[in-house]
Amino acid sequence: MADSFSLNDALSGPRNPNPQGWPGSWGNQPAGPGGYPGASYPGAYPGQGPPGAYPGQGPPGAYPGQGPPGAAYPGPPAPGAYPSGPGPYPPPGQPPAPGAYPAANPFGSSAGPLPVPYDLPFPGGIMPRMLITILGTVKPNANRIALDFKRGNDVAFHFNPRFNENNRRVIVCNTKHDNVWGREERQNVFPFESGKPFKIQVLAESDHFKVAVNDAHLLQYNHRMRNLREINKLGISGDIILTSASHAMM
Ligand code: GAL
Repeated sequence: MADSFSLNDALSGPRNPNPQGWPGSWGNQPAGPGGYPGASYPGAYPGQGPPGAYPGQGPPGAYPGQGPPGAAYPGPPAPGAYPSGPGPYPPPGQPPAPGAYPAANPFGSSAGPLPVPYDLPFPGGIMPRMLITILGTVKPNANRIALDFKRGNDVAFHFNPRFNENNRRVIVCNTKHDNVWGREERQNVFPFESGKPFKIQVLAESDHFKVAVNDAHLLQYNHRMRNLREINKLGISGDIILTSASHAMM
């Protein structure tokens, strides 16, 4: 992994709150028509109450090992922080993907889980500062999860937590070009647990993707397919209940 960053660093919040340069608070981000992509935090999230109920979004230390909110990634907005109105999101000509925002009512009623496998389309491709957020719950006795950022039949970025590879838990990242997998990058820090909710955030930057799980930076993956604009969808598959999948510009 092109990543010299340790979990300890990620969890040490106050000492080193944002060494990976995750975008700062979303508090000043304007909303687009129909509300903020925070609609991706409907009450659909298991156990989700008002903002702050998501593990890690409470006060520092609310989530096991958790630093302050926003230590690794920006958290969801406070209610009313994103008044409806004109704004850059969704981008002009890019309506939200069908099903990407399962509940019209942020923090309100649940629209139910999304089907898995699930494809989240990127009509204009990926671009730097695009943040993709996936909320779900790992099924009991899970074997695998996969995120596949696809460029046609190629996979620009495969992020594949494996719960039991020869009795070990490992995250395998790779790229598939013309049906051939490249060299694997492996990460032994494994923040997923069977039966537990999770939040994955993938931030596209010009040279790499950064991945944070449950608010802690996990890894970064240098781009092997550099034409980000041609990455047209994210495939989400594996042993999860998928609550929401959305993207926003930071
Ligand atoms: C293969 C596996 C693929 C993909 C790939 C990554 O062994 O069948 O699904 O995970 O490894 O290198």
